[in-house]
Amino acid sequence: MIEIKHLYKRFGRFLALNDFSLNVESGELFGFVGSNGAGKTTTMRICVGLLKADGGEVLIDGQKMLSNHRALAEKVGYVPDYFGVYKNLTASEYLKFFSNAYGIYGKESDKLAGELLDLVNLSNKSDTDVNALSRGMKQRLCLARGLVHNPDILFLDEPASGLDPKARYELKEILKNLSAMGKTIIISSHILPELAEMCTSVGIIDRGHLVLQGSIEEIHRAAAMSSPLNVVVNEAQIDDVFAILKANPFVQKVTAQGSILKIVFTGNKEEEGKMLASLVQSNISVNSFYREEGSLESLFMQIVGSSQKNAGQRR
Ligand SMILES: Nc1ncnc2c1ncn2[C@@H]1O[C@H](COP(=O)(O)OP(=O)(O)OP(=O)(O)O)[C@@H](O)[C@H]1O
Ligand SMILES: [Mg+2]
Repeated sequence: MIEIKHLYKRFGRFLALNDFSLNVESGELFGFVGSNGAGKTTTMRICVGLLKADGGEVLIDGQKMLSNHRALAEKVGYVPDYFGVYKNLTASEYLKFFSNAYGIYGKESDKLAGELLDLVNLSNKSDTDVNALSRGMKQRLCLARGLVHNPDILFLDEPASGLDPKARYELKEILKNLSAMGKTIIISSHILPELAEMCTSVGIIDRGHLVLQGSIEEIHRAAAMSSPLNVVVNEAQIDDVFAILKANPFVQKVTAQGSILKIVFTGNKEEEGKMLASLVQSNISVNSFYREEGSLESLFMQIVGSSQKNAGQRR
């Protein structure tokens, strides 16, 4: 299990991570979502030991990691969001170079490079110069590089950005395979629906702070609840309906569009049922009563939007 506890990071006077905490269970394929500048890369770089935090701790299976670089390097792999330029190296040589860096040489290194290229579907490109690979292929080669030392945990920073749908699909399949092999994978993106398709749970970061975390089912439920409740009544009874709704503590806002009332409702299903019953008991003829289908994108915008409204000073 990875426990990220109360991380703080300042760049000059700018507070990039502000009491950031997150737990990820072993074996999860965890989606780490946030807008540009939210703090995803900063968090990942701290977790893999490339950046020093100003406060806080990262524990893996209960062991403190930030002051233990050797253990961190063994357990964790990192795939950054950029691909450096390497001159005159083929894909296979590139992986052998990194395996050498981990003390793996000779035949063992050749075998490992072959296996990793196979794993990321690049066997046919083993003799191609790395700079001649397409973006999607470079992403997959980077992923293979992150796996050279067979880490238990893999951090991937926006691996799907700039990939076409086919390359995204292939990447997802590779990540699912790695997950099935028992690895814990943390993958960042600024697109919640994209991560929701493959992840087992998701955390949303905004302005350096975790604002929501849950299993993928919980996130879908939250999305469904975030959409308005629609009630269709006879227009002649609209004023009576407004009065009843106003008295309900779970009703935050009501807007009328002809005979359709759109209600921002914060209660659960049971409370929804009670509200319907209260309308019927007051002799309102309810023609229809339904939730609009909630989208993950609208949930994300709602969460990020509302936390920005409530945010205090960061500088
Ligand atoms: N080396 C640095 N010096 C100064 N500010 C930095 C530095 N690195 C990051 N920041 C700032 O910290 C904040 C978080 O940056 P970070 O790169 O972690 O965001 P991100 O969530 O990865 O965004 P993106 O989706 O654009 O990759 C940003 O406001 C960024 O400008
Ligand atoms: Mg980033």
